Amino acid sequence: MLVHIKDLVQGAKKNGYAIGAFNIANFESVLAVAQAAVKAGSPAIIQVSESAIQYMGLKPITHIVSTVAKNVAANVPISLHLDHGSSFDTVFECISSGFTSVHIDASSLPLDENINLTKQVVKVAHARRVWVQGEVGAIVGSHEKNIKSKLKVIPLAKLDEIIQFVKQTRVDTIAAAIGTAHGIHANEDIVFSLLKVIKDKVKIPFVLHGGSGISDAKIRKAIKQGVNIINVGTDLKVAFCRALIGVCLKNKQETDPRNLLKPTIAAVEKAVLGKMKLFGSAGRVATIS
Ligand code: 13P
Repeated sequence: MLVHIKDLVQGAKKNGYAIGAFNIANFESVLAVAQAAVKAGSPAIIQVSESAIQYMGLKPITHIVSTVAKNVAANVPISLHLDHGSSFDTVFECISSGFTSVHIDASSLPLDENINLTKQVVKVAHARRVWVQGEVGAIVGSHEKNIKSKLKVIPLAKLDEIIQFVKQTRVDTIAAAIGTAHGIHANEDIVFSLLKVIKDKVKIPFVLHGGSGISDAKIRKAIKQGVNIINVGTDLKVAFCRALIGVCLKNKQETDPRNLLKPTIAAVEKAVLGKMKLFGSAGRVATIS
């Protein structure tokens, strides 16, 4: 069932686990996340990036996610979230479309401009009971072909800027650059000393971006330090593509696309299930009120 993200985050905060925010790319990956949530008995966030919206269309995505949540995952709570919205217009369209949470990512702008744009989004979103995620200290990286490549620099967010940003914008959740990167990179990490001071000073839920490529031990430690949402994108794209390439190579004469796509659903589902167990959200449906 579709629920407000607030319900998921409150359950995670109270019970010391994290919820996976899974980037979806197509119908198959939406189905895979929903099926994994049912198998694991886990809450889940389904999140869409602007490129996913360009690929599928905002209305189709919104309808697919809500229909799948209602019919495939009727007994597990799922929320729909916009990931890295870059403009007021995109965020506004998602709010109007029924999202209960939006990320406005103005982190590449100077801090005062980031604060101003985020404040405008918060005003409109809160009037409609929608949660807003803000970001400080742009999280770098991308999904590259060479997934083990090293990034030249992974800049870190500044604590005083995060504190000022949260106070002035009144965002509901905060993302900040703490050493992870989007994609899978050999030199990404979690700077636990920075995470600790952020958690000491900033009381709203912290969102860890760049969840792919971080060791299980470090993910567990981050959850112990109070991370409540973990974004996962690349690991799911890789699972999908590996499965698709494998089945296509073995079945070059296949003429039914469903026979080529079924293994991709199973592969993404398996990857999501593994994350739900790692994040401690498996078997936690009863903690959501
Ligand atoms: P990964 O692709 O590294 O999992 O990061 C996803 C993410 O943070 C989306 O915002």
